[in-house]
Amino acid sequence: MAPPLPLIVLLMIHGVSGADWSVSYSPSHICALKDSTVIMRCTYTYPTGHQIMEVFWTKTPVKDNGEYPDLSKDPEYSQRLQYLGDKQQNCTVRLSHVTLKDSHMYYFRFTTDKDKWIGKSGVTLTVTDLQVESPERVTEGDSVNLRCKSSCALTDRATFIWYKNSQPLTERRDRNNELLLQSVRREDSGRYSCAVDGHTHISPDVQLNVMYPPRSVSVSISPSGVIVEGDSVTLNCISDSNPPAEISWIKGGTIVGSGRIFNISKISSDDSGEYKCKSINEHGEKYSDTVTLNVMYPPRNVSVLINGSGVIVEGDSVTLNCISDSNPPDLNFSWFKENETSAVGSGQSFSALQSGRFYCQAHNQHGSQRSDAVTVTVKGRLVILYISIGGVCGAAVIITMLVIW
Ligand SMILES: *[C@@H]1O[C@H](CO)[C@@H](O)[C@H](O)[C@H]1NC(C)=O
Ligand SMILES: *[C@@H]1O[C@H](CO)[C@@H](O)[C@H](O)[C@H]1NC(C)=O
Ligand SMILES: *[C@@H]1O[C@H](CO)[C@@H](O)[C@H](O)[C@H]1NC(C)=O
Ligand SMILES: *[C@@H]1O[C@H](CO)[C@@H](O)[C@H](O)[C@H]1NC(C)=O
Ligand SMILES: *[C@@H]1O[C@H](CO)[C@@H](O)[C@H](O)[C@H]1NC(C)=O
Ligand SMILES: *[C@@H]1O[C@H](CO)[C@@H](O)[C@H](O)[C@H]1NC(C)=O
Repeated sequence: MAPPLPLIVLLMIHGVSGADWSVSYSPSHICALKDSTVIMRCTYTYPTGHQIMEVFWTKTPVKDNGEYPDLSKDPEYSQRLQYLGDKQQNCTVRLSHVTLKDSHMYYFRFTTDKDKWIGKSGVTLTVTDLQVESPERVTEGDSVNLRCKSSCALTDRATFIWYKNSQPLTERRDRNNELLLQSVRREDSGRYSCAVDGHTHISPDVQLNVMYPPRSVSVSISPSGVIVEGDSVTLNCISDSNPPAEISWIKGGTIVGSGRIFNISKISSDDSGEYKCKSINEHGEKYSDTVTLNVMYPPRNVSVLINGSGVIVEGDSVTLNCISDSNPPDLNFSWFKENETSAVGSGQSFSALQSGRFYCQAHNQHGSQRSDAVTVTVKGRLVILYISIGGVCGAAVIITMLVIW
């Protein structure tokens, strides 16, 4: 039994018109980079005989006062949204300067003179920023991969670019979204960021910190010239390492201090010697070359050495020697007789011919010091008696006699 004719007609009319309402989005999921411009491609159909009255996009699939809110009237979107479609079948829309907050579903809504339709399936927009992913601790020689990460796989084909300290890296060592640093060097330390070619968004900087053992360890001495006793002297251990090294100071074979700066506030001659510093961190250690501190000082412990008792016989002499300790040791000596202002001699040794108290004064370029006085006593008198005994075969015998009193 066939159905009554009016029902068939009704089914046909409804079927034809229902099939004609559609909205399709291609693609239906978009992953876009922050600050970029997104084009949401869209086509729509409606039954023939209808005339389009209104077309707009919405992000709220819930009616408000009987209609969906029009996105182009939303102040957050109005400046950035541009309808590129038409009033026949193209409902493409463009959204520029997308922000993370724009991540949402969007729907196309249109009304004809007879009815209304919304593309319920919607298009999903995910907006992502870029983050550099890098290992926290890296040691020189390690192989390091930095990754430019986005929260979703970018819909548009992306060529990644890398920056180090805000300068684009020209040396191409990247693959897809990774920067490959094989056998990392300490020069690779720096701030890294990444971007996608053709886009303004740049990831935040990430610090790559390459650790390495101490290198080029050296000592500088201040002041750099001649060091004189009493001076303040600073030794500075210069060492390149990451993390910063622990410094210790070694004089001879013993540790005499620690810290990068070794201060000697009032240097004495005892501080003369060979110094070096040792720089150590968890990756290794290194010694500096040896530096020599040669502390200069004026003469001291000046004294006179007297040859014998200091008692001489008139007409003879006694040698006085001036000894002292000084640096540099090349000295000038002056000899004085006590209570006389002008020098009676110079040079390290002095021959005294007369009684008196003598002292020496030693000088170098840093100062002078005098010795205590020593006493020279001339005793007696030399009397020479000539006794001639008659010549034997022309020869004479001479007897010399020495008399002291
Ligand atoms: C719709 O319009 C956009 C923008 O003008 C254009 O790029 C796109 O090709 C059009 N789509 C179709 C199916 O005509
Ligand atoms: C070393 O001496 C210098 C100058 O006299 C001073 O500025 C510095 O603070 C001293 N450093 C130490 C560690 O004593
Ligand atoms: C030199 O003199 C100092 C005091 O000024 C003294 O301590 C030291 O022992 C002396 N040295 C010699 C070798 O006599
Ligand atoms: C004095 O010194 C000289 C040389 O140093 C030495 O030959 C001589 O024996 C010394 N005289 C006395 C009395 O010590
Ligand atoms: C030098 O003078 C002092 C006093 O000024 C005196 O005590 C001393 O005896 C004098 N020495 C000599 C060797 O004349
Ligand atoms: C040593 O003596 C010479 C000549 O007397 C003089 O020219 C020189 O400056 C003196 N040197 C020192 C360190 O006193």
